[in-house]
Amino acid sequence: MAMINENYIKLPGSYLFSEIAKRVDAYKAENPDATIIKLGIGDVTRPLPPAVISSMHKAVDEMADEKTFRGYGPEQGYNFLIEKIIEFDYAPRGISLNIDEVFVSDGSKSDTANFQEIFGLENKIAVTDPVYPVYVDSNVMAGRSGSLGADGKWTDLTYMPCTAENAFTPQLPNEKVDLIYLCFPNNPTGTTISKTELKKWVDYAKDNKSIILYDAAYEAYIQEDDVPHSIYEIEGAKEVAVEFRSFSKNAGFTGTRCSYTIVPKEVLGYTAAGEAIELNKLWNRRQTTKFNGVPYIIQKGAEAVYTLEGQQQIKSLVDYYMTNAKIIREGIQSTGIEVFGGVNAPYIWLKTPKGQDSWSFFDKLLHDVSIVGTPGAGFGPSGEGYFRLTAFASKESTEEAIERIKTRLKL
Ligand code: MLT
Repeated sequence: MAMINENYIKLPGSYLFSEIAKRVDAYKAENPDATIIKLGIGDVTRPLPPAVISSMHKAVDEMADEKTFRGYGPEQGYNFLIEKIIEFDYAPRGISLNIDEVFVSDGSKSDTANFQEIFGLENKIAVTDPVYPVYVDSNVMAGRSGSLGADGKWTDLTYMPCTAENAFTPQLPNEKVDLIYLCFPNNPTGTTISKTELKKWVDYAKDNKSIILYDAAYEAYIQEDDVPHSIYEIEGAKEVAVEFRSFSKNAGFTGTRCSYTIVPKEVLGYTAAGEAIELNKLWNRRQTTKFNGVPYIIQKGAEAVYTLEGQQQIKSLVDYYMTNAKIIREGIQSTGIEVFGGVNAPYIWLKTPKGQDSWSFFDKLLHDVSIVGTPGAGFGPSGEGYFRLTAFASKESTEEAIERIKTRLKL
């Protein structure tokens, strides 16, 4: 008899974005003529930059020729890409990394979900609340969560509320935690963390031999000077932090899939006997066993992000979406609704009007003005009463959405 991993049946029926898609499909079936504008899932809409496309075309031609054809590549990624990542994304900020500390992968979603595998089940997990659901659900699947309480919290997880009251800044927990998930610029709140606040986490992790899993997938959206782009800008972070970065949001790779994860050699975990083990070794072992690497064609596309044209083109992409963010932020503000985020991130986090719960506001927005957003409660109990809009639609759709909200939404 095949026994299942019963942790899976503890999970809510569907992943947040699947639940949203289900509701949107039902609405579409009832209202076939409605023009729906999607500001829900954080998926990009602009095509891949020309430099990326041209590099991929060349790579396709190489694959067509026996002399340049490639089969399996290194599971960790090709050096041509890793060298560029280090040179462009880290060296200019004074962060030195070795080639074997960078792991090219097919997405920060998969890496943030999979990374917990190399840790024991006894670790205490801390997440911000609201949170990107993948961090929580992957730990539920692994069996670290306990059970889901009536308050919407998993009994064995530590939640760090991030609300308007604390300026969306997670506070150090009272109890000792071992693995800490932080995401900045934040999904879903669109807010950032200061170097001073981030330093508190690095110090906490050093003092407690904890690990910070730092998701920086939205790093390219940072506009303000004093916001940290990498956790390794903080002194001591290379001893305690793993960082996840992605080509999805800066270069349009959501459908093409390419990302990377930094695992410095100094980051250590411990055996029950107290022996220190490099996480880099364990992650390398995990990846070489379970992953065959990102396709050559895709990595050649990602490499082109680091050419002069590539850098200019991704900057225009980010500028395009940040213009949308401004349109949304200012448009929503003008209706009297309280708005957060959207300055250093492509997400705008708003307070639902008149204290509506966030799923009711989701239904209202969908039914009154055919706009899809994401209910804050879907990201955790402290997301209740909030709502997320993304800046990833076209400029025309974004303007149309705001016009509809201003003129047709009955607040
Ligand atoms: C989101 O909407 O939060 C995104 O889909 C996150 C992701 O890239 O998985």
